[in-house]
Amino acid sequence: SSKLYSEPYRPQFHFSPKANWMNDPNGLVFHNGTYHMFFQHNPTGIGFGPMHWGHATSQDLVHWEEQPLALFPDPLGHIFSGSAVVDINNTSGLAPAGLTAIIAIYTSHNPEFAAQNRTDVERQSIAFSVDNGKTFVKYEKNPVLPNPGIRDFRDPKVFWYALQEKWVMALAAQDRIHFYSSKNLLQWEKESEFGGPSIGAHGGVWECPDLFLIEQKDISKWVLLVSINPGGPNGGSATQYFTGAFDGKTFTADSKDINWVDYGTDNYAGVTWSNVGDRHLFLGWMSNWNYGQSVPTEPWRGAMTVPRDLSLKVANENAYLVSQPIPELNSLIEAELVSLNETTVKGELKLVDTKRENSTGLLMVNFELAEVAEWSFVLENDLGEQVVVGYEASSRQLYVDRSSSGKLDFEIQFADKMKAPRISQDGSMDVTLLIDVASIEMFADGGLTCMTAIFFPHKPLNLLSVRSGGVGSLVLGSVRVWSLNSTVW
Ligand code: FRU
Repeated sequence: SSKLYSEPYRPQFHFSPKANWMNDPNGLVFHNGTYHMFFQHNPTGIGFGPMHWGHATSQDLVHWEEQPLALFPDPLGHIFSGSAVVDINNTSGLAPAGLTAIIAIYTSHNPEFAAQNRTDVERQSIAFSVDNGKTFVKYEKNPVLPNPGIRDFRDPKVFWYALQEKWVMALAAQDRIHFYSSKNLLQWEKESEFGGPSIGAHGGVWECPDLFLIEQKDISKWVLLVSINPGGPNGGSATQYFTGAFDGKTFTADSKDINWVDYGTDNYAGVTWSNVGDRHLFLGWMSNWNYGQSVPTEPWRGAMTVPRDLSLKVANENAYLVSQPIPELNSLIEAELVSLNETTVKGELKLVDTKRENSTGLLMVNFELAEVAEWSFVLENDLGEQVVVGYEASSRQLYVDRSSSGKLDFEIQFADKMKAPRISQDGSMDVTLLIDVASIEMFADGGLTCMTAIFFPHKPLNLLSVRSGGVGSLVLGSVRVWSLNSTVW
């Protein structure tokens, strides 16, 4: 193993940049057999700074290779978040004959205007690539969408609306989303607004929208993702969603209620890939603006969640968004460490000691309860540092407790026990956990309730056990634990 990618806390099956600062995923697009992931990146420092688009590519969504920087700041400003599409019919006219352009649509954020307290700090620009995303050329008449006098006006997500043969852009504008449309990606017309104070969560400004149609046999809905910072269910940054209808002009939500893609503190600014057919493939920034800039990692800061498949599920007569780790991740399975059926746990059952089993320490866990009961899985080291994920029957809440997980003092709000309501009313329960060096992702009830959390122990958390709650015993229908291979070295 090389020194790079084996530093303390370096994620082993989650993407992180070789060095320096990273936040939001940007320009997620599939083209010519390659998945592209661009990302908010400051290549000059380990904190937020002049934003560029970094770039990584993958053939399988599991192994990522970092590429040279894709977009650099220019006189219009820093390159903030946005999306990318494949302009298959060359609607923009930007591709020379015979070539296909990937078009990036991003926010030009002007730091000088910001310093002058102007409102027109953020405008939308485009850039195109005709060499499969290797290099981008900025459109000479940028910006393509001027600022209407709204200070926070950013994060364009564009998709092709086939029914009306036009591009649609969802854009965050302070406490709401603006929708625009265009025939050519160059001229944009405003269609409508969605949001405002009476709809959804508003602890902070709305950012990084995404709008897409999920069509299933049992149910079809348009889904609008909206990230907010702060104001997440467990503090700081988080992503809410709305289900509803979209007619090419206006999004109408089924309800004004608040729903969260992920209740954990560490899944922000997530959006979906373009050009992947019927799939709704999601990726988030696995951090939080509350402490993202002070996490104790070097020489990089920031990682992505695993890619997740989004779908809909009807529960309690409502449509909910569910997230599941992509099945491609199963290719990482190295060995089955635990395989138990019908197991009764009284107190504690030790499952894995990755040191003893000489495994990578990267784990995938799946377990089922035929009857819902209180449970907790404890991931710990011999210093007593631990991350506990569990279910509290009395409050019907799932939780991840990282209050004794090791390094905590880099940010006062980090040492917390985060909670999420169990949405499902089913009598049985199934849970998948993905455990990397410094993160855990929980998918309960097929992904109806998700929580993602990062942590920084002084020594690797190599011990995994399961505990029954209170005085009762816990009957596990099945438990499987697999060790996973690293993807990065
Ligand atoms: C979300 C965000 C976006 C913005 C970007 C800047 O995390 O604040 O709204 O475009 O980060 O890096």
